[in-house]
Amino acid sequence: MRLLILGGTAFLGQALASQAVQRGTDVTCAARGSAPVPEGARLVTVDRDVDDALATLAGHDWDAIIDLTRQPGHARRAVRDLHAGHWVLISSGNVYARFDEPEQREDSALLEPLADDVMSDMTRYGEAKVACENAVRSARDPVGKPASWTIIRSGLIGGDGDWSGRTGYYPWRFAHPTGADVLVPADLTFPVALIDVEDLAAWTLDCAERHTHGVFNATGPTTTLGELLDVSRTVAGSAAIPRPVDATTLAEAGIGTWMGPASLPLWIDDPQWRWFATLDTTAARAAGLRTRPLAATLAAALDFENRREHPRATGLTDVQEIGLRARLG
Ligand SMILES: NC(=O)c1ccc[n+]([C@@H]2O[C@H](COP(=O)([O-])OP(=O)(O)OC[C@H]3O[C@@H](n4cnc5c(N)ncnc54)[C@H](OP(=O)(O)O)[C@@H]3O)[C@@H](O)[C@H]2O)c1
Repeated sequence: MRLLILGGTAFLGQALASQAVQRGTDVTCAARGSAPVPEGARLVTVDRDVDDALATLAGHDWDAIIDLTRQPGHARRAVRDLHAGHWVLISSGNVYARFDEPEQREDSALLEPLADDVMSDMTRYGEAKVACENAVRSARDPVGKPASWTIIRSGLIGGDGDWSGRTGYYPWRFAHPTGADVLVPADLTFPVALIDVEDLAAWTLDCAERHTHGVFNATGPTTTLGELLDVSRTVAGSAAIPRPVDATTLAEAGIGTWMGPASLPLWIDDPQWRWFATLDTTAARAAGLRTRPLAATLAAALDFENRREHPRATGLTDVQEIGLRARLG
């Protein structure tokens, strides 16, 4: 199979390219080259912000194209300039209009598609991904007929290479405690789900090879923040005890939610987002999606955190956690 990955230099794209090479696929990646592509894959350097960036890749007979973009203009120009028998778009659960109720199915209401070619900031991410999905639905094969396509609405991606630190923070913090306890959000029933990057990559490649047509939510089973913390503690082999801190205290201390510096990740203190991690994955599982146990993903994320070369992007630093503990008394 001749596969074109629009991406391939970051977290999921590298896993896709690496696994595809292992499968014996002929892999070309197209990106600006902010990081290397895996050994055995070819990198074509392009800046997709430029209108005709993909011209050098047009006319090739790709069996499948996997697009990792979040910019509507990138997706629109890709289907304008390139042709393949099958397209895969890595989309996101963020496309859904509502998370104040559980279990979004593929036919649940979506956000309005972003009309602009460029997503100005991440507050428009869901709308941008809806626009990317709409572009891929109009993709054409090399003889100009409608191509088949898979739209994969991924949940939070975790495991080895999670630079965001969202899936690695708690295992890492339990492995490197600053005291007898680890400070965690008090909302331990908050629903959490994630998908291991390797599982998502494997199933995405299956879809590309089998020309699986349709829209699919893809994530692991929904659990709770409390269970994720228990598994994190086990994976880290830690004796530290989770110490819940209420939302008001965290807000007053300037501790954020979900991700980023000075945060306690994987929860959101907003009823509008409570059911974000409850995507219904029945269709994907029927189409072959398999996900490994949470412990395996958290162990891989911990291993990555222990090898991390760049500053930790999420969670509390030692100084911040010690300062918050002192505040609690
Ligand atoms: N992380 C999550 O938890 C999560 C959850 C749901 C869905 N998703 C989706 O999953 C995918 C994750 O992809 P990823 O981890 O491989 O990487 P990514 O950080 O989302 O970036 C995607 C790729 O796009 C390339 N790119 C960005 N701007 C470009 C430009 N102007 N021209 C050419 N290439 C450009 C990047 O390479 P260069 O920088 O080298 O150009 C990179 O390889 C995305 O589609 C994301 O929206 C992520």
